Amino acid sequence: MKKILILNGAGKKNGNTAALIKAFTEGAESAGNEVNEFYLQNMNIHGCLDCHGCARKQKGDLHPCVQKDDMDQIYEAFVECDVLVFASPVYWFDITGTLKTAVDRLYAVQSNLGFEACNRDTVLLLTSGAPAEQNPIPIQWYSIFGQLGWKSLGMVLGTDKTDEARSLGASIR
Ligand SMILES: Cc1cc2nc3c(=O)[nH]c(=O)nc-3n(C[C@H](O)[C@H](O)[C@H](O)COP(=O)(O)O)c2cc1C
Repeated sequence: MKKILILNGAGKKNGNTAALIKAFTEGAESAGNEVNEFYLQNMNIHGCLDCHGCARKQKGDLHPCVQKDDMDQIYEAFVECDVLVFASPVYWFDITGTLKTAVDRLYAVQSNLGFEACNRDTVLLLTSGAPAEQNPIPIQWYSIFGQLGWKSLGMVLGTDKTDEARSLGASIR
């Protein structure tokens, strides 16, 4: 059983991204995994200040950022999770600003605990208006994963790929 944390950066609560997440979650839960999703649009999460206060906090602090906002809920879930899922519609060839802001704030965990303690398996669930090959996001994301040493379990990109998302979820054990 794996603990799966989903960061949902979609604007719409019941749009295409939500459909991919639903299918992925059904698959993951059918395989006995535990899924915890955060719908970021409804959360109060500020941008990273690059103040390096996280590096000065006591090592292992569950709330490693000096800013006090809803990111604290995500920090608590992050330290417990085995698999981190980034879910987002493509906005201007990128993930949404909502998700990017939360990803930037994860910097505090690696700054506080070090790269190795933050090593996670990852999944990308992306929806887009244009076909997948016209969206360059995966290249950018695989660069980030490579830098962090994170292993990718797979990616789904497209609006009609719920079966693929379900299978990817079910493959996690
Ligand atoms: C501000 C904005 C920018 C977008 N930029 C792109 C883009 O660069 N490439 C693309 O394929 N689709 C783009 N789209 C379309 C969305 O990615 C697509 O409609 C997606 O499925 C919406 O997901 P949702 O239903 O979860 O909100 C954009 C949509 C919006 C609102």
